Amino acid sequence: MTRQARCPFDPPPAGIAAQQAAPLLRVELADGSTPWLATRYAEQRALLSDPRMSADITRPGYPIPGGGEGAGSAFSFILMDDPEHARLRRMVTAPFMVKRVEAMRPAVQEIVDGLLDDMLVTDAPVDLVEAFALPMPSLVICRLLGVPYSDHDLFQSNSKILINRETSANEKRQAVGALVDYLHGLLRLKAEEPGEDVFSDLARRVEANELSSDDAAMMGVLLLVAGHETTANMIALGTLALLEHPHQLQRLRENNDPALVTSAVEELLRYLTIVHDGRKRVALEDIEVAGHLIRAGEGVIMATDLGNRDPQVFPEPNTLDLRRDARHHIAFGFGVHQCLGQPLARMELQVAYTTLFRRIPELKLAVPLDEVPFKHDGSVYGVYELPVTW
Ligand code: HEM
Repeated sequence: MTRQARCPFDPPPAGIAAQQAAPLLRVELADGSTPWLATRYAEQRALLSDPRMSADITRPGYPIPGGGEGAGSAFSFILMDDPEHARLRRMVTAPFMVKRVEAMRPAVQEIVDGLLDDMLVTDAPVDLVEAFALPMPSLVICRLLGVPYSDHDLFQSNSKILINRETSANEKRQAVGALVDYLHGLLRLKAEEPGEDVFSDLARRVEANELSSDDAAMMGVLLLVAGHETTANMIALGTLALLEHPHQLQRLRENNDPALVTSAVEELLRYLTIVHDGRKRVALEDIEVAGHLIRAGEGVIMATDLGNRDPQVFPEPNTLDLRRDARHHIAFGFGVHQCLGQPLARMELQVAYTTLFRRIPELKLAVPLDEVPFKHDGSVYGVYELPVTW
């Protein structure tokens, strides 16, 4: 569905019309299949937390928006069901828990300040994506996982291929292959010289036969890709949304209240809901929802960008209101696959937005909004470049 050029932050008009028409309707994908589209918050949450819905991409009926095969089996537990999903997820839960993440806040602040120091000594305009939004979460996830940042070209370029809707299944397979090969090598190094990081722990588990080396490498790909790309897009798109809503931005600038910073980040996550293409599932049994019967083997796409704009749940949903209590948004998904990295993403965004606007109060867009290249072709929404000046 195409967005309106003059409303780059809003879901496509066809999606909004679908939401108004029905909570559940059939859509046609490129391969001619006709899965269900769930358009409203209540049904999306119900289906995402229903154990009769499977996230296993290898099951017949799993909806793949571009049609054809998914390159997805390499994405580890995000595309698996319990109990295997839970077994693998448990192995990497601890470093992403709130307390551990909060302990990283000073290190993240240092990374943010370092990048802004560098940016401020260059001549404006600069591309905020390249100077700040992409390196910041990449540096953080590299430190947490134990990946040398000097390898960032390899993982950033292959991640880009993976989240681009236009790339063929073959190109995606090659990108996954390159990442898996890289992770195999890195895990071997970690086995020889372990450090205090997530990948050293995974290498230890492989040695202890708790985990196959293939599963460890695939988990590594998931953590590395999910851990930088989404947050990077949220930093750049969120900055742009704030610049385009000066009254809201003023509120954030004038107020040092941590509660406002927290609610601002939740509202930006809701308003922008950058993970597109919906959460995809296939029914394991017949399920009745909102008067419709989803039959076993039928696919369902939960359009969470629409769910987060559902007027039944978020009054005046198309208004960005940083004081709104948006904590119950579903930008991180819902149910057992709910984002593992959400405490980290939240903390990174809180530090990124507040420091950026505190240190560069005159920050502004260096080109008209309609010259900003939006990622209309990506399964994660954002901007390719954000030219800014001050
Ligand atoms: C603003 C940033 C982020 C957004 C919007 C986001 C969004 C999401 C969403 C929507 C899901 C659910 C997938 C589904 O239900 O099929 C998810 C899952 C996941 N995310 Fe994030 N994410 C973000 C940051 C991160 C970070 C920093 C990490 C760190 C590694 C991460 C790791 C994961 C993992 C491992 C899963 C799979 C969880 C599972 O299947 O049990 N994410 N994310």
